[in-house]
Amino acid sequence: MTKLTSISGAIASLAALGLVACGGPSGGSATETAGPQATSGYETIVSNDGAIAFPTDYKSWAHMGSWAVVNEGGEGNGLHNVFTTPDVIEAFKATGEFPDGAVLVKEVFASESRQLTTGSANWATNPEVWFVMIKDTQGRFPGNGLWGNGWGWALFKADAPTVQVATDYNADCLGCHIPAQDTDWIYTYAYPTLEAS
Ligand code: HEC
Repeated sequence: MTKLTSISGAIASLAALGLVACGGPSGGSATETAGPQATSGYETIVSNDGAIAFPTDYKSWAHMGSWAVVNEGGEGNGLHNVFTTPDVIEAFKATGEFPDGAVLVKEVFASESRQLTTGSANWATNPEVWFVMIKDTQGRFPGNGLWGNGWGWALFKADAPTVQVATDYNADCLGCHIPAQDTDWIYTYAYPTLEAS
């Protein structure tokens, strides 16, 4: 299957779910609206009532960036890796914005640290949680507690990764993302992969 066919198929699936508006002012077909909006994850993880499923294939996406968190004593307190699909990175480089349907996944590992020849080194141990955000420029799910401020927000825990456990993005997510409000709620400064080259 060619890339174009696969994107057209993705758009068609989104349209079937009512997740994309088919045709622009000129009444173009779904194929004609394909382009940077299409991502390879969105249509497979969002149901037509806005429920969000775990994007099981995220490891094969593009690595957007990583965070190492240490506690006050300097010991490792988590390693975070952020992934998105390659088309999202290309779209962001071109426009400076996350395209509609962009899926971001932050996997959180517990970590340990030790003085090594490189310094105080931290390494990942077991996975703990996954945070998922899905760009929604259309406000598709008004009244759904997982959707708002331009995104869908979801949380999965390692003991049951298939179960989405966030209930209210305002309470569960938004407060901690206020420092990144001016960059569409994403801590973009930590992702050099998004910079246009
Ligand atoms: C305790 C504060 C806190 C909470 C609660 C929180 N986040 Fe975050 N989130 C952060 C911080 C800080 C970063 C970037 C630094 C890091 O990961 O340590 C981040 C990064 C992310 C990223 C990677 C993209 C980015 O913005 O850099 C995603 C995706 C994400 N969060 C989703 C969520 C979702 C979804 C929820 C709710 C289910 C949530 N977060 C709740 C603080 C939080």
